[in-house]
Amino acid sequence: MADGTGEAAAKRSYFHKERIKCSPEEEARLEREHFWRIIDAFSYYRVHVQEQVRRAEHQYESLPQKHRKLLPNVLAHLAQISRCAEKNQELLQAIVHNSLHMFENIEYGQRKIRPSSTFDMDKLKSTIKQFVRDWSEDGRAERDSCYRPIIQEIQRLFPRHQCDVSKVSVLVPGAGLGRLAWEIARLGYMCQGNEWSFFMLFSSNFVLNRCDQVNSLTLYPWIHQFSNNKKSSDQTRPVSFPDVNPQSLPPNADFSMAAGDFVEVYRESNSWDCVTTCGSVCPLLYHFENMANELSVELSYEEIRTAVSTIGFHIEVEKESVQTTYTENPRSMLRYVYDCVFFVARKPADVYYHSPEDIQPAVKSPRRDGEGTQT
Ligand SMILES: C[S@@+](CC[C@H](N)C(=O)[O-])C[C@H]1O[C@@H](n2cnc3c(N)ncnc32)[C@H](O)[C@@H]1O
Repeated sequence: MADGTGEAAAKRSYFHKERIKCSPEEEARLEREHFWRIIDAFSYYRVHVQEQVRRAEHQYESLPQKHRKLLPNVLAHLAQISRCAEKNQELLQAIVHNSLHMFENIEYGQRKIRPSSTFDMDKLKSTIKQFVRDWSEDGRAERDSCYRPIIQEIQRLFPRHQCDVSKVSVLVPGAGLGRLAWEIARLGYMCQGNEWSFFMLFSSNFVLNRCDQVNSLTLYPWIHQFSNNKKSSDQTRPVSFPDVNPQSLPPNADFSMAAGDFVEVYRESNSWDCVTTCGSVCPLLYHFENMANELSVELSYEEIRTAVSTIGFHIEVEKESVQTTYTENPRSMLRYVYDCVFFVARKPADVYYHSPEDIQPAVKSPRRDGEGTQT
């Protein structure tokens, strides 16, 4: 989407200056800082939930006696939420423990846990729900609606009876907890998932490399939802995972996860037979819109479509109004349904980027995670 106008050129050079301003040492320092911030979020979770529970207890206790009598189960329910948070924390600690030596460039040692921001706590709670979506029986319907059409399309385009699927390379940017990439590898394709979020990378590393017993672990993903519960027990309902043994890939499967910003990690052209993503492009929910110090250009599907076609891709399949949910609590009284677009674009052989500048990200963003690290 290169733009030749003076203003765009000025912006490009501004971002270029920003890029070189950050020395490799500074980059490494920022990355370490970010790593520890996310580790702190995992470790601080229990304190955060307990604070919320304490607040709820105080609110309840501030009610007149006659009103409290009408609500005899509130304190017991809050105590149950506390116990569930303890259990969640045990699992989060196991994830932290398993993540501490994931990256070579991080120095480890005893550290004091620092309080986390609401932003990071929200991310952590979303990550907990992501376990349900990707690795539990409860997430099956959601996976069937999102991942199955993608997998079927890959099988249609690269059928087993026409090609050696182990030679078909599939890249899944924005892989979340890795289930889609894992399923593609299970079918025999060579598949790599890519993520930049440490929340996701720590969690996918745990589930993919440390879990080998079906439904052996339990999370309480809905305890943070205090609204829209039909029954109090819906809030404290446990969810078991993994619904399959992540270690059960065929012995010759070629599956990996790579950490880092998609646009920075993959710089070589014509290296993948297929690039597929779910939820990262559609629905078009822009997490960094209106955030100071974050570069974010929010595009409509129409604009993305035009850009894809202008580059030279042929849109071969396009289905609008594909309804799906995202980390949905099936018992919640509030449901969000995304009205997604499913599309397949083919890159013709003659589409070629003339200069590496064309595929460079506009600015190195601090939200970039552990570039190029294989996990
Ligand atoms: C909406 S989530 C979808 C996750 C997963 N595909 C799923 O369907 O459950 C989008 C994911 O893309 C990741 N992501 C966004 N931009 C990325 C980038 N430039 N490089 C790598 N990952 C990215 C985010 O960290 C997030 O985990």
